[in-house]
This record gives sequence, C-alpha cells and structure tokens, in this order.
Amino acid sequence: MAASPRAFVLRHTRLRPVPGLEHVRLHLADEVLPLWRAVQLELGDADAALPYWAFAWAGGLAIARHLADRPDAVAGRRVFDLASGSGLCAIAALRAGASSATAADIDGFAVAAIGLNARANGRRVTIVGHDVLDDAPPVTDVILAGDCWYDARLAARVMPWLRRARELGIDVLVGDPGRRYLPTDELVELATYDVRTTTELENLDQKRARVFAVPFGP
Ligand SMILES: C[S@@+](CC[C@H](N)C(=O)[O-])C[C@H]1O[C@@H](n2cnc3c(N)ncnc32)[C@H](O)[C@@H]1O
Repeated sequence: MAASPRAFVLRHTRLRPVPGLEHVRLHLADEVLPLWRAVQLELGDADAALPYWAFAWAGGLAIARHLADRPDAVAGRRVFDLASGSGLCAIAALRAGASSATAADIDGFAVAAIGLNARANGRRVTIVGHDVLDDAPPVTDVILAGDCWYDARLAARVMPWLRRARELGIDVLVGDPGRRYLPTDELVELATYDVRTTTELENLDQKRARVFAVPFGP
C-alpha cells in the first residue's frame, strides 16, 4: 500500500459537489486513466485496481437519489454500504437520517477516500477495509450495494451474500445502470433515475440507473 493513501487521495482529487446531489461533496477526479497510472506507479503494481473511489458511479448515484426521495428507507436504521468506493451511499444514508453507517471496500485508497469524504460532509462513517463477502452478513438493518455488477467474479459472490442478508431480515437496496452481470430477474425494481456521470467512465454523461430491492424468500 502507498505510504499515505490519504495524502495520495488529496493530491489527486478535488473536493466538489456531486452532480445532481449538490448537498454531498466528495473528493473526485476528472480523468480516470492518468489517475489509474498514478495508482499503478504508487503501488508498483501494473494490475492495480481502477481508482473507483475517485468517482461517483451511476449505481451509487441512483441509491443516493433514492434515499433523498425516500429517507424512510433508512431513517433511524443502521446502514451497511457494500463496495462503498467514495463512501457516497453511506454519506447519503446518514443525510437521510440513518442512525449509523458502515462502509466496506477492499481498496486501501477507497478506505482513505471514505474517511476524507465522511469528514468533508460532517458525518461519521465506520470503515471496514477487508473483504466482508467471506464473512456472515453484518449486524445491520439495511445493506446498500451501489454499482457492484461490473465484474463476473464479484457479481457471483455478491448476490448469494445479499440473499443471505435478506434471509436474516436485512433490507437490501441495489443501485445499478444495467451492467452486464446484474441479476435483474432476482430483483424487484423500486425506482429509476437519470444520473449525471462522466464519459471518463461511461459511454454517455447521463445514464439511466435503477434502484432495486432484493426480495425475501426464494
Ligand atoms: C464501481 S465501484 C462503486 C462504488 C460506489 N458504490 C458507487 O456507486 O459510487 C465498485 C467498488 O467495489 C469495490 N469492491 C470490489 N470488490 C469488493 C469486495 N469484495 N468487497 C468490497 N468492495 C469491493 C471496489 O474497490 C470499488 O470501490
């Protein structure tokens, strides 16, 4: 890991409002490829992960918009933000009145970014930096899973874990713009949002993204 992931995040991002969610400010980057290169150099690892944490992804944006529209989904409840990236969904949940928020991501730069972003928004987020998908689902009331369906191996692990969580009585909200591995037939659609993203990440700078619930039972 980099000597100071926090300093690296600060050096390569700018704190600014999230398009469409101007009340949330995140440390965001403009361009993905130069930053990815900087990550590879910093870690000395040509296979380093994309700097997901430096962008607000369409799936997370949809969840954040949904929580602004429907705060009752999380108000007074404990929230767990899986694959948190920048921490956007955890911060949006706290803004909507969640009693606590925990954010999990396996990327050390994401861990740093979540801490910085929580602080920038005056929120307290508990951060988990290990891979929770090998653990039992957490003790929580609601799990948010924003934009987790871009990779076959991750998608294959996420859905059984979310189903297990649902069987334990945890509400699960998924946000996604229709990525390749999204198991639409296993989800119940709740809402649709046109979210502003960037052509650095997507083919268009506006994407249609949906929020789904994982239903209870088979
Ligand atoms: C496309 S980003 C989505 C970030 C955020 N939810 C959003 O919508 O803006 C996917 C995130 O999943 C994280 N991730 C990948 N595998 C993971 C795992 N096993 N557990 C937790 N996070 C993981 C990546 O590091 C990345 O930050």
